[in-house]
Amino acid sequence: MEHYMVKGGTPLSGEVEIAGAKNAALPIIAASIMTNETVLIENVPDVSDIRTLLNAIRSIGAHVEKVDRHSYRINGSPINRAAPVDNEYVRKIRGSYYLIGSLLGKYKTASVALPGGCNIGLRPIDQHIKGFKALGADIRLRPPGLVDARAENLSGAHIYMDVVSVGATINIMMAAAMADGLTIIENAAKEPHVVDLASFLNSMGASIKGAGTDVIRIRGVKRLHGTEYSIIPDQIEAGTFMFAAAATRGDVVIRNVIPKHLESISAKLLEVGCQIEESDDAVRVVATRRLGNTNVKTLPYPGFPTDMQPQITILLGLSNGTSIVTESIFENRFKYVDELTKMGAHITVEGNTAIIEGVSGYTAANLSSPDLRAGAALVIAAMAAEGFSEIYDIHYIERGYEDFPEKLRKLGALIDKVDTEDDKRRFIFRAG
Ligand code: EPZ
Repeated sequence: MEHYMVKGGTPLSGEVEIAGAKNAALPIIAASIMTNETVLIENVPDVSDIRTLLNAIRSIGAHVEKVDRHSYRINGSPINRAAPVDNEYVRKIRGSYYLIGSLLGKYKTASVALPGGCNIGLRPIDQHIKGFKALGADIRLRPPGLVDARAENLSGAHIYMDVVSVGATINIMMAAAMADGLTIIENAAKEPHVVDLASFLNSMGASIKGAGTDVIRIRGVKRLHGTEYSIIPDQIEAGTFMFAAAATRGDVVIRNVIPKHLESISAKLLEVGCQIEESDDAVRVVATRRLGNTNVKTLPYPGFPTDMQPQITILLGLSNGTSIVTESIFENRFKYVDELTKMGAHITVEGNTAIIEGVSGYTAANLSSPDLRAGAALVIAAMAAEGFSEIYDIHYIERGYEDFPEKLRKLGALIDKVDTEDDKRRFIFRAG
């Protein structure tokens, strides 16, 4: 079975280029079919969740042309509006639910398989449904797990979100973009990818104001037109490399980032004793000694992201003193701690809180990725540990990190994707 093999103990050093943001690309691809004209999207990350969504829109008739590794020309005019979006892959990715908002917005009808995604908690979609209903849609759940959304007409509404939800904010924004009149979303999510989708829709002729604040105003338009758009850099991929630099006591320049999106991450790294240097589109992280402790609570943007929670826990597990990490977004996001315990970490999880007694080093181990971000975090732990570790279930990591082992290797990490015993022997021989 394909997995990663890592020989830890080498500080990362050099420069790494960050890809486009997966969580912006997913809704932008979904929204690209809301016009009959052609849309060119650039800086699309080459990761499996994106390929799955592109196949999903192809499966209902959209024309998708790959221009180069990171650019696609998409034309949604041939879409068969009656076709349900459903196959075993669509059900695996969370982003497929964005097709409810985009198809409902454009065609006033959508039938989409219920979303899957990483198993990090209950992940209900009640806020999405509440928003669609407020716009006038009738929503039914139909076996085998399809969401049917239908409306004679969508009309703008004043919607107050009970929880801050990235997915619901995005989905409602798409449906409202082509509704009659004004929609106001209150208590909206403010994540960079929410703003990126609004900018993309506006470049197609939508009228969306306030994205990035907690009140978004959407004045519906009759039609959207083609556009050319480049996706923002991936905040979470960048943050992951920042923590990889810190945990291996390295010196890494992370390029093609928007430093503003990384403020909560940089602040925590500074707090524990890293040096951070920012320029217009890069951030350098230097760690020369064992780092200190801190407490952190995950929060919606601009708070510390839940998608960085495993990475900071892994760093704090190696830091001096006791740290507390509180997960306030998803209730099931500490599953990786059992794996980390195998490496000698001292972490106790009580409900949504991890109490971490820092140890001076991790020991190598065989590990299994429980989800995307935890998988990447376990690779960081393996790079910080002395000796050979093996990380399984890497399909999770490949959902959201482009060329993860290749980028790490360029920074000096000893990591390879291996399959057979021969591959493993070769890696051990090379890594010494
Ligand atoms: C998005 O998930 C991201 N996924 C997640 O990234 C990320 O962890 C999350 O936002 C939080 O930032 C994508 O963008 C595809 P939410 P989403 O709706 O939209 C509750 C990754 O690793 N909630 O903001 O599903 C929910 O249970 C992934 O890239 C409701 O109660 O997250 C959670 O507690 C993992 N009802 C909170 O809101 C709803 O209808 C935030 O969830 C919707 C959400």
